[in-house]
Amino acid sequence: MASELQISTAVIKELSSIVGPANLFTGPEELVAYSYDATRTAALPAAVARPVTAREVSQILLLANRRRFPVIPRGAGTGMSGGSVPVRGGLVLSFERMNRILEIDERNRMAVVEPGVITGDLQREVEARGLFYPPDPASQQFCTLGGNIAECAGGLRAVKYGVTRDYVLGLEVVLPTGEIIETGSRTLKSVAGYDLTRLIVGSEGTLGVVTRIILRLLPRPESVETLSAFFPHIRDAGLAVAKISAGPIRPRALELIDSGAIRAVETYLKQDVSRGAGAMVLLEVDGSPQATASEAGALERVCREAGAVSVTRAADKSEQDRIWKLRRSISPALYTIKPRKINEDIVVPPARVPDILAEVQDIARRHGLLIVCFGHAGDGNIHTNILLEEAERPQAEEAVKEIFAAVLRMQGSISGEHGIGITKAPFLPLETGEQALEVMRKIKRALDPNNILNPGKIFLNAE
Ligand code: MLT
Ligand code: ZN
Repeated sequence: MASELQISTAVIKELSSIVGPANLFTGPEELVAYSYDATRTAALPAAVARPVTAREVSQILLLANRRRFPVIPRGAGTGMSGGSVPVRGGLVLSFERMNRILEIDERNRMAVVEPGVITGDLQREVEARGLFYPPDPASQQFCTLGGNIAECAGGLRAVKYGVTRDYVLGLEVVLPTGEIIETGSRTLKSVAGYDLTRLIVGSEGTLGVVTRIILRLLPRPESVETLSAFFPHIRDAGLAVAKISAGPIRPRALELIDSGAIRAVETYLKQDVSRGAGAMVLLEVDGSPQATASEAGALERVCREAGAVSVTRAADKSEQDRIWKLRRSISPALYTIKPRKINEDIVVPPARVPDILAEVQDIARRHGLLIVCFGHAGDGNIHTNILLEEAERPQAEEAVKEIFAAVLRMQGSISGEHGIGITKAPFLPLETGEQALEVMRKIKRALDPNNILNPGKIFLNAE
């Protein structure tokens, strides 16, 4: 097992000679800056290195195995499950200098990037060339593609376009033991051996360090229509979502926001868009202008039939941006309600969305807790956020257990897009069962025999 002790002065010297003294931080303020993620959980690393090549990463991992210290890869720290928090100290590997878009291959619709590229920067760059990279986590303007790969990030458009793993064709990966391998290929299909690309995507930085990424792109849709529908009650909004999910139209976003989340974000952004509505559904369709116009009309009708009191279509791009800014600001807005937030990303089969919403409301009522629900209801992925004072933690922890039990009863999953990290590690066996979990541990041990890469994540105990 990797040592939990701080890194020795001799090791710091060796690290400094690998990345250069300007790219090795050990000062207290710098360490604090790399100690937390969006869960607001924090643990101080002993040092932070900013490598610029796969070779440097390899040298660092070889050293970590020799001297047995933990190495924690980190993108922009926007993760929601503690994946980049250095819970056992050690060295944080930050990819802010590996942030180049190396190539955009327009003919084959592919991009080759380094892990520190900001997701939104790649999106803008490819869209300017008539191309499209669909995965769009709410934090797309800050998060990195390396972090998206580590957690297999989803986002608002996953309901139509899928998640990060659906766009990764190949990777360059430094294994925990220092070897540099390439997975996948620059082709749209390949069955040459085990799918190591898929094994690495979503492995939460525990099986290898990604140093280069080949991404699949799509043609940019010609037209996009965005609608906001307001409902008196969350139940009606849930039914509208279930009806649309089962229908013939595939919106590219189908988001549901409950009254608690609406009020929080309206206060945070000082806007009143909902006029006191009990729930809001945001929809977006893309395609040809004729298709989007007729689909938007059909979706509007479904929402009205389900009880929507008003449905508005965004008139132009700036109105669309305003709606999505509101949606993407929910997460930070919720921190202004109570000092603590337990944010889950449960996912159920789409038709069970109304059931899980009712169940969560019931759990909130029984425990006297404020639980806010919002998110990607179109693919069944709901962010249940328990907002609490520290004194309410015991009830909140009980509520989390009950929510997960309900999700698993409905054949759902405890994590749709944020990963297991540290926050959900105690619950993973409930979903996978002991034998599947042991297969995962065996893979971890085979690739990382000394448990130096991101230890303490996914498994309560990997050793
Ligand atoms: C979102 O969809 O806004 C993100 O996944 C963040 C969150 O769950 O708070
Ligand atoms: Zn989300």
